[in-house]
This record gives sequence, structure tokens and C-alpha cells, in this order.
Amino acid sequence: MVASSPRALASGRADLWDSGHLKGGSVAVRYDGAPLKAGKAYHWKVQIFDENGTSAWSSPSSWETGLLDPSDWTGKWIAVESADERTDRLASPVWVEGSSPSPEHPRSFRLPFRSTGGEGMFTIVADGAISSLALDGKPLDLPHRDPNAFGGAPAARIKFPAPAGEHVLAVDIAPIAGFFIKPAVAVAAQLRLDEATGVRRITTGWQTRLGTESLWSEALPAAFQPVFPWPPAPGRLLRRTFVETGNAIRARLHVAALGGYRLWLNGVRIGDDELQSEPADYSRRIPCRTYDVTALVRDGENVLGALVGDGFFASYQAPEGRYAYGAAPRRIRLVLEIEAADGQAHRIVTDPEWRHTDSPLRMSEIYAGEDQDLRLWPEGWLSAGFDASGWAPAWEAPLPEAPCSPAIAEPVRVVREMPPIAVRRIGDRRFIVDFGQNFAGRVRLRAAGAAGQQITVRHAEVLDPKGELDRSNLRAARAEDRYILRGRPGSEDLEPILTYQGFRYAEIEGLPDLDAGAVTGLVLSSALHETGTLRIDNGRLQRLWLNTLWSQRSNFVGVPTDCPQRDERLGWTGDAQVFWDAAAFNMDVTAFTRSYCRILRDVQGKDGAYPLWAPSPSGLGWGTTSATPGWADAGVMLPYTAFLHSGDAAIVDENWEAMTAYIEGILARNPDALWTNGRGADLGDWLALDAKFPMDETTPKALIATAMLARSAEQLAKMADWTGRSAAASHWRGQHDRIRQAFQNAFVKPDGSVGNGSQCGYIMALGLGLLDTGRQKAAGRRLASDIRRRGTLLSTGFLGTPLALDALASVNENELVWDLLLRREYPSWGYMVDHGATTIWERWNGDTGDVAMNSFNHYALGAVAAFLYRRIAGIEPVEPGFARFKVAILPDQRVGSAGASVNTARGRIETHWTCTATRTALDLTVPTGSVAEVELPTGKTSAGPGSHRFTF
Ligand code: BGC
Repeated sequence: MVASSPRALASGRADLWDSGHLKGGSVAVRYDGAPLKAGKAYHWKVQIFDENGTSAWSSPSSWETGLLDPSDWTGKWIAVESADERTDRLASPVWVEGSSPSPEHPRSFRLPFRSTGGEGMFTIVADGAISSLALDGKPLDLPHRDPNAFGGAPAARIKFPAPAGEHVLAVDIAPIAGFFIKPAVAVAAQLRLDEATGVRRITTGWQTRLGTESLWSEALPAAFQPVFPWPPAPGRLLRRTFVETGNAIRARLHVAALGGYRLWLNGVRIGDDELQSEPADYSRRIPCRTYDVTALVRDGENVLGALVGDGFFASYQAPEGRYAYGAAPRRIRLVLEIEAADGQAHRIVTDPEWRHTDSPLRMSEIYAGEDQDLRLWPEGWLSAGFDASGWAPAWEAPLPEAPCSPAIAEPVRVVREMPPIAVRRIGDRRFIVDFGQNFAGRVRLRAAGAAGQQITVRHAEVLDPKGELDRSNLRAARAEDRYILRGRPGSEDLEPILTYQGFRYAEIEGLPDLDAGAVTGLVLSSALHETGTLRIDNGRLQRLWLNTLWSQRSNFVGVPTDCPQRDERLGWTGDAQVFWDAAAFNMDVTAFTRSYCRILRDVQGKDGAYPLWAPSPSGLGWGTTSATPGWADAGVMLPYTAFLHSGDAAIVDENWEAMTAYIEGILARNPDALWTNGRGADLGDWLALDAKFPMDETTPKALIATAMLARSAEQLAKMADWTGRSAAASHWRGQHDRIRQAFQNAFVKPDGSVGNGSQCGYIMALGLGLLDTGRQKAAGRRLASDIRRRGTLLSTGFLGTPLALDALASVNENELVWDLLLRREYPSWGYMVDHGATTIWERWNGDTGDVAMNSFNHYALGAVAAFLYRRIAGIEPVEPGFARFKVAILPDQRVGSAGASVNTARGRIETHWTCTATRTALDLTVPTGSVAEVELPTGKTSAGPGSHRFTF
């Protein structure tokens, strides 16, 4: 029942919707009543009936709508920039370009100019690698850049004296070496001359030549003029006052921003969301959020305050750079709606009444960390009566192209606090703090000191042999917070505001002493409900599962990222694809999936291809124009998994067209149903053990691609079945059969050998059910014997490993499954845990591998957690929302007991088994509305709601 007021609901008057009694164990029933209006509360309750016909009403609850239509946003976008930055921006540099055939043949550009005497500030950015920069023939220093940095260098800003006279700035630029070499380079720059006569900005007048050609010619403007990526600028404080007279009974604040923000009303922070504005493709959709601020509004003068900095919108993002989603300036738009007791409502919005000034946030970027000068907080700026007459009046910003769109997923929050497990002095005023756990978040520090004193917090995942931070795997991420103390009596709290890092250790420099009680690790994560707990009577495997949970917490930050620490933190689709099965057990991923899939759909290529990562400001990624197998398949795998776990068909409906377009796009290019054409970046079994380079073809790539295609088609068929799309279901089942047949013809021999004999080939074939019974057995034997022959180890990478144990279990190689799970030597899951992993490593040899690609918090190899839930604990969804689930455990005496509990939409499912040489006992709890298909060595049986015990 849905009613327009609590009173109507209490009296049983469902004036908006009454679903009636829905039989058959309904979950995720969609509201189907009167159309919803913006900014309203809706009150609901639900009556449930169990299998005995007993019924009960829930306690009343409510939901609220935000601003639904673009016209509901009456506030203006206001610019977040200083007057100087604005003048810089309006004198926008022009990109000039020229050919440059190879990294060995740089092109030269030069900018002659005349100064009347003063100082120069040169801001330059190149599409290509700058190999030299000089003023009047003398080299200028370029900022240091890690040789393994992912993506082009950000804009460099250099100051120099510019005495009166003629000068020349000269720069050499070559294409960046790598997978895709562009045969052209481009440059854009602004020279700001601060002369006695005033400030001048020079952006044009470039000349160019290739190599040592003698003639310089005018450099031509580039055909494509990308956004000029201004270097990091300080955050700004914004403020507006307003007077309230009537008693406000309801107040809601709607916020959208291009930049990172934090807000206060009358000195109290609004909400506890972190890292807002969250990661998004701001060029297509600007996420907005709504806060209940009723309790903060008061009669008399009110003060609304904001701190706005670079955030995800403007920060450097690999590989695109800064302002990847659109041009400066950073912007914010607010609508505060206040309703008085007499029913009158009015709005305070972003308008020219706002004032702004410089902030203590001198620099804040996602990869870099934050520089704060705490002396610059204006005393009392959030209180009434503060004199802001010296602040600049706000000016309107250019209108963004994208609409504001309410965020779907849970916001990022501080989900837990970690006390250090050790603090160790390593030098004069230098300490290493160990939080005992790798995680994504920040360090909060209580410090006492004099005004102007500097404190630095550096982050790292691991230590070097001397016990100092080892930061070599962070590449170009500075991962450092710097503070200048205000010098308050007592102490002050230091904490970054708009950024986060991935780390276990922090080095704190600048304090004479450090007490462990003064340091706290704040864990940031998208605040999803944790729904699954796995219990296994083996410390190493228990830790392995926990490590997958920690890697999920660390990498569910607005979007599913690959890692939280180095210069990536990108929504790589392949990583999500392999991990989603595990993710959906650990947490309720329903809203998070809907949100990320919306981002995927927004960048979908014209023939349906999903990207390599998302949000992805420049298409499918790496210049690809087709889908990358195993990565793009996230577009189908994620909705499938989230629907199977939640039973919420909205996920399928929202993605249906996009998913079918994706598979149809591949089949159109590959009429014989083998995915040979258009394979994007074709990463194969990325990071396989036998690979010298990450994407080496250790397994035929067409085999992997075709296997992925078969699975996606099968998942479409199942989703179609479950959502009543019967014609589509038989169509996609037919396509699946055709792809499966093509796979067998191309890659499987009559003797059961698959592909080139690599383990990944067998795993794809068996794990995805692509073989007929006869060849299945033979293939299983071959796979098992290869694993044994190599010393009971897996040689697989990103795509093979997640399916390995399912493949072995499908041919009853149960003992081998356990041998692999219990293995402790390299390479194995046990090895990671034995070598101190508290999250999942990117590579089996995280401790000894190449530092350029070596994250200690990358969840792909942790996809095995799904197998632990499904086959070790025996909880495997068979129909959406666990309407039916399979219980087929693989007990083993070596661990003695295991089980799991999973909170599903229908209630809690629980399993627990014990196993000795002579007897196995299984306890099972099935929730109302659910049926368990129990497979025992003695036969199959089904179990309804309640508790059950089976012994065999
Ligand atoms: C990321 C991966 C990703 C891969 C694809 C890496 O740099 O960290 O996890 O899937 O690139 O190439």
C-alpha cells in the first residue's frame, strides 16, 4: 500500500497504490500507482504471507522523490574559480599540431615573444611526450614524471624572469611510445606576462618544423581542439546567507556539481557522503543528490557554505588527463527548498547573491592527495554575522551540456575506522603507521604544533626491506597529503576532504612524537549492505575470503575500480565482469549495478560495443572501435548476476536493448559465430602465468572470445526466460547453440583436447559448458593432468582463473579443487595469504613481480570467492532472487567444516557442514518463498522453508 500521507496509510487508505495480494513469492515488485511528483514523500507498508498463510504488516516507511525534471532545477550554475583563473580561462590556448612519424622523430615548436620586463608564467600541455623545453636556448625544468605513468603528462606550469627584450620559448614533442602510436603531435599553452604595465596573456604565434629542417613555418591550429586541461587550482569557499521567519517543517537541499564538494548549513556539515560529486561521465549526465536539512534550518540569519575543489570532474584521470569530461570552470548548483508550517514553500538557490573566496585547500586531486593550509580557514565563515564583504560576488558559469540526473547507487561513506596496529619511529620526526589492513580511504591525524609547521602523510601498500614505505607501484600517483598547521592551542584535526588513497601503511613526517591514539584510518567505500559471510575452518581460506571482501570495499568507490592506489582507479569492465559473481554474494549490488550499467550504456559504441572502462570520456578506450572480449562482456554479466541475486527485473529491462545490441553487433561482424573479427584491445587471458607481456596469446584469443560470446548469449536467453520474453529466449538459446557448435568445430578435437592445450582453453570449455558429455570427460582429464604435471598449479590469468574451479568441479575433480585451494606455494591463493596479503593481489607474484603493474588490491583473482559460496558452502542461485537455489557442497575432511550465510531478498539462507572420514552432516536454512534443490551423493531432493539436516 502506498499513500500520500502517514495518516492515510495508518487508516489503511492506499490513495496512491494498492498492489493487492500477489501470490507466488514476490520480491522486487515495482510501484505501479499514480505518477510520482518531484520533491514529495510517499508512505508505504507491505503485508507478507508465509507458507502457512500467516500474515503480518511491516511497520510504515516512506520514500521521497528528488528533482525529476530539468526544469525543476531553478538554481544557476555558478563558477568556482578566482577572477584571475577566469581571465586565464577566457584567454583560452589554441592547440596547434604537426606530423611526427615516430617516438624517435620529435617535432619542434617555438613561440617568439617580446617582454617589457617582468615575470613569465608558462602553462603548457602536449599531446605527445615533451622531450625538451627551453627559454632563449636555456633548458627549463619540467616536472618529474614516473616512466611507468599511465597516460600523458598533465599540464606543466613554469615561472621565469622575463627581462625586457625579445625571447623564444622552444619545445620538442614526439609521439608517445606504446600500443597505439599516433603519427602527429600537438601543443597548447598560455604565457602569462606580469609586466610593469599590467598582465598580458599570449596563446598564439607558434612556429614549427620537423627534426632539423631549416625552415620554420607557422604552426596550424589543430582540426580537433580538445579542452585545455588547466593545472590543479586551489579549492574555493562559497557562502550565502538567508533569513527565515516561519517555522520550517521540511527542508531539502538538492546538489549537483562539476567538482568535488563539501557543504555546511549553520556550521553543521550536511550529510556524511564522501567524494561527492561522485565518479560519472559528467559530459553526459551530472549526478545529483538530495539531503534532508530540516533540523539545520533556524529562524533568523542562516548560512549555507560550500567548499568546492577539483574532485573527480577536474582531477587528473589516466589516460585522458585533467578536465577529461569537459572544460573549466568547476561549477556548482544548489536548490534549497524550505516548507513552512503553513504550507508555504520557498527556495534558496545558487545565484549572484553567493560570495566566494580562496580556500585552505591549496591543491586537491584524486591521485595526488591534498595540500591544506589550515591557517587560511576564515574564522566564523559558517556563522551568521560574518563579514564577507571582501569576498567576490559569484558569477554564472557556462551551462553544462549534460542534464542533472539523480544518483542511483549508495554514496561513498566512511564505512569503518581503523586504529593503527603499530607506530614505529624511523627517523627524526618520521614515523611509520601500520593499520594492519590494506584499504581505500584516508588518514585522520590529531596534531599539535606551531602555526606554519608542516606535516606530511604519505601512503603505501607495502614496506621495503628497510622498513620504509615502498611506493614504486603507485606510478604517477603522488598519494601524499600535506598540511600547514594553524597553530591552535591544544591540537587540530588533519584529514583530507576531497580525495582518497589505497594503502596499509602511512609515513607521517613533521611531528616530534606520535601517539597511536592520534591516528585513525578512515575506510571509504560505496556504502552497500554487506550480505554474505563465509565460514571455513581453515585460517588461510577464511582470510582469503576476507581479502576478497576488503578488495571489494576498496574498489567499490562510486564505480567498480581496478585498484584504489596507483594512477588508474578506473572502472575497468573486465575486472568487474570476473568479480561480479563474488561481489553479489558479499554485498547487495543491485543499485550499484544499475548505476554502473547506466554509465556503460552511456558510452556504448554505435554497434553496441561496451567500453574497456567506464566512465570513459573518449569512447571505448585506447582508441578501440570494437568490443574487447571478457571486458565488454560486463555489459551482460553484470545485469545477469545482479538480477539473479536480487530478483529485480528492472535491471534487465533497463539494459535489455543495450545487451542485445551488443551481442548482435558482434554476430553481425562474425556471421560464422566465431568471434574472430573486431576484438577491440584483445587482452586475452590478461596476466596469465606463462605470459611474458600481460596480453601475450598464451591461449588462442579467438577461443576465449568465442567462449565469452557463448556465455553472454546464454545469459541473454536466461534473462529473457525469467522476464517473460519467450520469443527472445528461444532466439538467444538458438544463438547460444550455434556459437557453442562453432566453438567445438574450431577449437575442440575428438580426443577432447582444446585449443593449444593451455589450461585456460580447457577451463573456458568446461567452465562455460561448451562441450558435449563425451569430450567433456576427456577434456577434464587433460586439464587435471596438466595441472598435476606442473606441480598442482594454475597457469591462468584474469579470465581463466575465475572459472578454473568450476571447470574442475564440473568433471568431479573435487580433490584437485581442494588441492588448489589448499596450496601454499607460488602461485596460489594460499601463497598470497602466507605472504601477508590482506587484500587480493593483481598478480600471483605480487611480492616479486614488475612494479609497473603490481597492485596489492585488485579483486580479479579473488573471483574464487564466488566458488567458495556456491560450491564449498553450497549456496548457488538458480532462479532470480533465490526463488530456487542449488545446494551441492564439496565437503573435504582436510578442512572439516564450512558454510555461509547470505541475506537474500527472501530472507537469510544458511548452510553449515562438517565432514569426517566416515560422515558428512549438512545443516541448511531455507527462507520463506524459496526452495532449495539439494544434491547429495545419495540423490537429489528439494527442501522448502525451514531448517533441515542431511547426513551421508
Ligand atoms: C588494469 C586492469 C585492467 C587492465 C586491462 C590494467 O592496467 O589495472 O585491471 O583490466 O589494465 O588492460
